[in-house]
Amino acid sequence: MTVATANHSFNATLQDLIEYPAQGINSKVLLKDNNSQYSLFCLAAGTEIDEHTSTRNAVITVIEGKGNLNLEGKEIALTPGVFIFMAANAPHAVQAQENLSFTLALSEHLPPKQGVSQKTIDIVKSTAPVIKQHGQKITTRMYEIMFDTHPEVKAQFDMSAQANGTQPAKLATAVYSYATHIDDLESLKAMVDKIAHRHVQTHVLPEQYPIVGECLLQAIKDVLGEAATEEVMTAWAKAYQVLAEVFINREQQIYQNVS
Ligand code: HEM
Repeated sequence: MTVATANHSFNATLQDLIEYPAQGINSKVLLKDNNSQYSLFCLAAGTEIDEHTSTRNAVITVIEGKGNLNLEGKEIALTPGVFIFMAANAPHAVQAQENLSFTLALSEHLPPKQGVSQKTIDIVKSTAPVIKQHGQKITTRMYEIMFDTHPEVKAQFDMSAQANGTQPAKLATAVYSYATHIDDLESLKAMVDKIAHRHVQTHVLPEQYPIVGECLLQAIKDVLGEAATEEVMTAWAKAYQVLAEVFINREQQIYQNVS
């Protein structure tokens, strides 16, 4: 839902729009036009957004509450009135110590700083056969970890597709396709498009990607055991980040056209 419509003047008092969920994040798009997007984020006390990057320049303005932002390794206290500019591609993570609300203004889109290195490509490709062999086991484990550690995301999923294994199977196919085509993302366009549309239907948000990433990496580690060396895990962490950005960008385009 978008609160205001572009090209029609609008005013509101942010405090009136704040709504905290029992846990996790509530985000509302206040306004978007062709160049910018303004959102209101309300984080329940205790919520953490793991480290991630965005390909857009962004400004955070804290309205109320207390938290912490780690921006490129620097700790910044989030208290009312704090204004922060985050350059595109800067790694950042957020923690809410108390109920915390802030606006996030996304502006210029910049290309990702770096694709994956040849080394990462080689390592990820070398794991493709084991990913194929254990795909469903990995993704089943991934959902198990995610629903356990982040139960609030359950509501977005069709739990019967979990129980009968269809969703873990779809995710396993997607992860395997990515592992084999990591150096040819163009050929994954149709797959990305289909998944991105499903994600938009189920209201998947950019800030949820680190959650899936963390759970997927843990599941790879759990299932592959000793084969999941530090080198393999680092390569997959980088590869996931790139794939997440591909989805986030595509989903943003779809969100912009549908609302
Ligand atoms: C790079 C990461 C991701 C990959 C590879 C991925 C892959 C997929 C695939 C293959 C599907 C099935 C699409 C279809 O039915 O055609 C799907 C659906 C879905 N994904 Fe993702 N996904 C990713 C990230 C996320 C994130 C961050 C969330 C947020 C919680 C999410 C939530 C969902 C939901 C709710 C569905 C619909 C499931 C249902 O119908 O029950 N995914 N995803």
